[in-house]
Amino acid sequence: MLEGNLSQGRIITGVDIGTNKIVAVIGEVEEDSLKIIGVGKVKANAISNEGFITNIDDLKSKLELAIEEAEKMADVQVNQIFVNLFGNKVKCFSAHGEADVLNPKSGITKSDLMRALEDSKHSIEVSEDEKIIHMLARSFKVDGMDGIKDPVGMSGENLETDVYVVASADSVIRNIENCVQKAGLEVRDFVYEPIASSEAVLTEDEKEMGVVVIDIGGSYTNITAYTEGVIRYSDVIPVGSNSITNDLAIVLRTSYDEAEKIKRRYANLYELDNENDKVELFNTSRENVKLVSKKYINEIIFARLEELLKDIYGRIKKEKLLNDIKSGVVITGGGALIEGLPVYIEHFFDMSCRIGRPLSLKGLFDKINSPLYSTAAGILKYAEKSINNSVYTDRGFFGNLLFKIREFFETYF
Ligand SMILES: Nc1ncnc2c1ncn2[C@@H]1O[C@H](COP(=O)(O)OP(=O)(O)OP(=O)(O)O)[C@@H](O)[C@H]1O
Ligand SMILES: [Mg+2]
Repeated sequence: MLEGNLSQGRIITGVDIGTNKIVAVIGEVEEDSLKIIGVGKVKANAISNEGFITNIDDLKSKLELAIEEAEKMADVQVNQIFVNLFGNKVKCFSAHGEADVLNPKSGITKSDLMRALEDSKHSIEVSEDEKIIHMLARSFKVDGMDGIKDPVGMSGENLETDVYVVASADSVIRNIENCVQKAGLEVRDFVYEPIASSEAVLTEDEKEMGVVVIDIGGSYTNITAYTEGVIRYSDVIPVGSNSITNDLAIVLRTSYDEAEKIKRRYANLYELDNENDKVELFNTSRENVKLVSKKYINEIIFARLEELLKDIYGRIKKEKLLNDIKSGVVITGGGALIEGLPVYIEHFFDMSCRIGRPLSLKGLFDKINSPLYSTAAGILKYAEKSINNSVYTDRGFFGNLLFKIREFFETYF
């Protein structure tokens, strides 16, 4: 069995700790691609609606099971994992940095750029109990000229930078780290969940043209918007597809499990006009069976989705992004599996909509070819970038990729 550490096999593991399931995906970093070699998926239910770990022992054992399953498939041993930063205790905001160019005649250097980025630290307001997880260099300004992605080599006297910052409550980070350690593993890095899902499902063209990703999970809906190739907005709504199951259970007076079965079998937004087609379902005690129309089932589903989509639309509008989203909407996560949802979103948003699955992967990619695996696959893609040094070094730096201020400042200052 191979030791799956980073220096040896360029084997990396991404883990998505979701509110409904834990997914572990092991990948092998090849020269210009990422090969999936192991996948593990275990049902889980140990995160609260507020994003807190409610049962650390349960989560630890489910995590071990997911990792074991992936390890067996890949025939490697996992020591370190890249893991999602989840929950709604995350803050995202813009920061601004500025520097005088040291030698304007010979052009802007990497060191000027570092100083501008260093300066952005002063505009970042995080409290002692928060930690910065990501900083995304979005664009640069040279002597007031906007929208520059790679300023190195340009002549100019003043350099400004616009940075997108993701910070999280330290307690959330420590809780995840503790749980991972209990499972005998180490967190190599965190990836903010909305960013991870987007990494997996989007093409560069979509990011350039402007796109919104909606990841509808069990308890959370993550929204991320990109325009001109860079992230503009991300947010987490603490409502997911489990709320639909809850609504069905309450309104139809049946158990949660029965409601979940009904949802998976009959959720279909094309059925909203079909009064006559009826299905059988158990009452709460499973003693009696009753008949309910598919129309009624889907009206209940529709009501919750409509509320959620209104909320999302309102947020995108408030961010003044509606006119910049030329490529439309990509939906992913288990909640995207409701039949007819993309068509409904097309009407609702007046934009095109597609279902997002992990893209551009080799090997056992058919095992993760579903919206359920977008976050895990995205974590792995992020990890690949950092392994290939494109996250922390020049390429990533100048190419709108993520880089981390923690490592950045430790390395350079
Ligand atoms: N085939 C299906 N049809 C309809 N809904 C489905 C289907 N499969 C899964 N779901 C729903 O998707 C939701 C779970 O999605 P997902 O696995 O993406 O959640 P998660 O990542 O664990 O949660 P979160 O992202 O909120 O932490 C559940 O509410 C489940 O009912
Ligand atoms: Mg999820």
